[in-house]
Amino acid sequence: MLQAQNTVPVYLDPSKPLEVRVENALSLMTMEEKVALCHAQSKFSSKGVQRLGITEVWMSDGPHGVREEIQWDNWGNAKFTNDSCTAFPALTCLAATFNPELSLNYGKAIGEEARYRKKEVLLGPGVNIYRTPLNGRNFEYLGEDPYLSSKMVVPYIHGVQQNGVAACVKHFALNNQEQWRGNIDVELSDRALYEIYLPAFKAAVTEGKAWAIMGSYNKFRGQHCCHNDLLLNKILKTDWKFDGAVITDWGGAHNDKEAALNGLDIEMGTGTDGLTTSSQSSYDFYHLANPFLKALKNGEVSTDVLNDKARRVLRLIFRTNMNPARPWGSFVTPEHSKVANQVAKEGIVLLKNDQQILPLDVKAYKKILVVGENATRKMTLGGGSSELKAKYEISPLQGVKNTFGQQSEIKYAMGYASGGSAYGRELPSKLNADSLRNQAIRMAKEADLVLYFGGLNKNYLQDCEGGDRTQYDLPFDQNKLLAELAKVNKKVVVVLISGNAVAMPWINQVPAILQAWYPGSESGNAIASVLSGETNPSGKLPFSFGVKLNDYGANSFDKLCFPGDGTREVYKEDILVGYRWFDAKNIAPLFPFGYGLSYTTFQFGKATVDKTKYTKNDVVKLSFTLTNTGTTTGAEVAQVYIQDKVSSVMRPVKELKGFSKIKLGVGESRVVNMELPVSEWAFYDEAGKQWKVEPGQFIIHLGSSSRDIKQQIPVTIE
Ligand code: BGC
Repeated sequence: MLQAQNTVPVYLDPSKPLEVRVENALSLMTMEEKVALCHAQSKFSSKGVQRLGITEVWMSDGPHGVREEIQWDNWGNAKFTNDSCTAFPALTCLAATFNPELSLNYGKAIGEEARYRKKEVLLGPGVNIYRTPLNGRNFEYLGEDPYLSSKMVVPYIHGVQQNGVAACVKHFALNNQEQWRGNIDVELSDRALYEIYLPAFKAAVTEGKAWAIMGSYNKFRGQHCCHNDLLLNKILKTDWKFDGAVITDWGGAHNDKEAALNGLDIEMGTGTDGLTTSSQSSYDFYHLANPFLKALKNGEVSTDVLNDKARRVLRLIFRTNMNPARPWGSFVTPEHSKVANQVAKEGIVLLKNDQQILPLDVKAYKKILVVGENATRKMTLGGGSSELKAKYEISPLQGVKNTFGQQSEIKYAMGYASGGSAYGRELPSKLNADSLRNQAIRMAKEADLVLYFGGLNKNYLQDCEGGDRTQYDLPFDQNKLLAELAKVNKKVVVVLISGNAVAMPWINQVPAILQAWYPGSESGNAIASVLSGETNPSGKLPFSFGVKLNDYGANSFDKLCFPGDGTREVYKEDILVGYRWFDAKNIAPLFPFGYGLSYTTFQFGKATVDKTKYTKNDVVKLSFTLTNTGTTTGAEVAQVYIQDKVSSVMRPVKELKGFSKIKLGVGESRVVNMELPVSEWAFYDEAGKQWKVEPGQFIIHLGSSSRDIKQQIPVTIE
């Protein structure tokens, strides 16, 4: 018979402090129950403690929408009919907005969807640095610059976690390519580690207060990153004081002892021999299941280690599902579509616009030909674990028809074909490439304007998990097609759908180029809005576009530098990643970091600083007036790069240390104030193992891209 209880146990009382609840729950649990918290019970969930009413942890990819439901024990979809989500733009697009406020809205909206779908953990965002344009997963990350990715990741996390859903920042760390991702052992200097590859993770933990983090598949200094003593125990948990849970990437744990001792808390996705046994749950064979229990029981591993893991998982549960105050969430709402639409529109980058062919003067074009498979292909499919079952996806062709179809005749030619499958494999196309190309060229001769939608497509080796791109050129003979189209029609507007830079040998033959990323559900609407001028583009490149592949640092050395020899990889370009490399080596990029055109023009007034001499604890107050001098409302991203004139160590020519996006009406001026903490200008001193600002002269470069510097303001640090 049930006894009426008049007191709620402490761990169930949300008015009690988190740590008090955690300690109380811990004191009531058996060793077996604690171990059960530390590993999967299904593909995407781990156990709670049923006896105590402590709930399970359910996780979902991430990072662009809430993934469809997956079966309990295999990767097949669960055939639900109520799991079609809002597809938000890929993270490269979010980064290109240079707008942290939009990142907060994005996080909030995706968090609401995750909450509605009863997820405790959203597996994202990803902040691995763009080191080479061949990395198959660059589209899931926030670009090449540690400052930009730090500023963009923090609000995303805040937005997600407002919903009582944990963000799980990934992939910690140095997972900068897909090839050999499961075993490549990355070697790099401490400076490159601390200055380039760790800052966004650090910001996610110390400012974003992320409740979870995902270890990466690769190795670093000899240990797999999912159980890496230096990364997890020292840097993450000791130096950064991370109090949340470290989750493996799926199948990222390899070793009983390291899994127990080196900072891992929840093991997911391991393919153990247990999978072939039917007598017991295969999950009992995980490194952090029976082998861990055995090591605890025979004293090889101390119970402190177990208690630390259990505490972290309990915090995760109390912060999420067992926080009764968390909101209810919502799913595929008009508000979420609006967020997806805004991010897509603000992230699209106008790369080239000769004779102001854009925005399109629609009256001038009676016959518009749309060319390219990406005009119709579903881009929310493919790409690997970030693939989405979207409630809807407006294709570029549909967007063009909706926007221009009243006034102009719209025809479509596929132009090239990449094969049928969207996911995992690239199938040979059944369609004949020559006849597709010839048809497009024939039709282009008749058209007043050609809108070309190409790029990559999330097929295997074309912006997809599990493999890197094999070439810098566009695939499927698109270079040839574009060159031939440009010969027969002078008005070819190129819209690239991709998450990576590509070579553009046809650049001088076409008047306009837009970089549209993977824009998600609102793709066609957002692109057409920019083409028509309803939206004035304001996106800026979050990574450098090189003319050719070996213009990138990582690709300019031997194979050991990229992609490695199969076992080791040495980051020989060191801290000179992205524009830092282009600057140091004096290589002209095709399009520089931070670059993006507008339909209007801006003028930077003379910039001033509040003092001329500062100490390393000061904040420099920079101010200037920005004016919209053109004929349409628009937004500019003012960018501040810092240069250390004289230093005892090699320093990049300049580094992004501030940006601000300012929207201005026609003729409008605004005083822009930017605060630049001098402490952020430090370098990592390898000998002293600390951040250091050396006294001397620094130059503040103020501009509208990393290569369009409008003013240089010298300041002295004492
Ligand atoms: C990916 C992760 C993803 C996980 C679960 C892994 O293969 O690397 O990013 O979250 O699968 O789907």
